[in-house]
This record gives sequence, C-alpha cells and structure tokens, in this order.
Amino acid sequence: MTEKEDYKTIDGEIYLRAKALEIIEDIITWCSLEGDIILDPYLGSGSVAVACQKLKRDCIGIEIEEKYVKLTEERLSKEISQTKIGGHFSSQA
Ligand SMILES: C[S@@+](CC[C@H](N)C(=O)[O-])C[C@H]1O[C@@H](n2cnc3c(N)ncnc32)[C@H](O)[C@@H]1O
Repeated sequence: MTEKEDYKTIDGEIYLRAKALEIIEDIITWCSLEGDIILDPYLGSGSVAVACQKLKRDCIGIEIEEKYVKLTEERLSKEISQTKIGGHFSSQA
C-alpha cells in the first residue's frame, strides 16, 4: 500500500484510512479476547478506541491534545448510534 492509500489528513495531522483500520482490528482480534482492556497511549483520532468498541474490548486512551480527545468522542458516539454496541470512553480536560 502506498502512503496515500494508508493515511488521510485531519486538521493537518495524519491518520489511518479504512484499510489500515482493518489491520488494527485484526491485531486486536488476534491479541485479545472480548472484555479485555487495550491501552493506546497515543490515541490520536481514536482508531484503536473505535476498533475496541466494535470488537467489544474496553480501551484506555491517552491523548495530550484535547481536540483529538473530542474527535475520538465524536467517532465513538457515531459508532454507538450506528451499531448500538455499548462501550465507554472517558476524558478529563
Ligand atoms: C500518530 S498520532 C496517533 C494515531 C492514532 N493511533 C490513530 O490511529 O489515529 C499520535 C498522537 O499522540 C499524541 N501525543 C503525542 N505526545 C503525547 C503524549 N506525551 N501524551 C499523550 N499523547 C501524545 C499526539 O497528539 C497525536 O495525536
């Protein structure tokens, strides 16, 4: 895959595209069980958190930039309304 296929830009930052998200989902599936806790200490746009929600893992995400915490919260909210899968994500500003 080329860089253009793997990444997209949000607000000047580079994040993973859908193909790469599938790889994250595969890794989480192979390395953990439902209900396990996954730590992403550099959460960014929250791709790992979104994958965890979909795969019924809990996720602890650490992100220094508040704008990305909000972006992750928005992505998780959309995912919940689309899939009706429960999950939780908390942030502290
Ligand atoms: C490359 S992005 C992570 C991409 C993310 N895993 C994804 O899939 O979209 C790296 C993130 O780490 C965050 N970051 C950098 N230094 C940090 C720190 N010391 N503590 C927490 N987050 C940090 C940046 O703000 C940035 O959003």
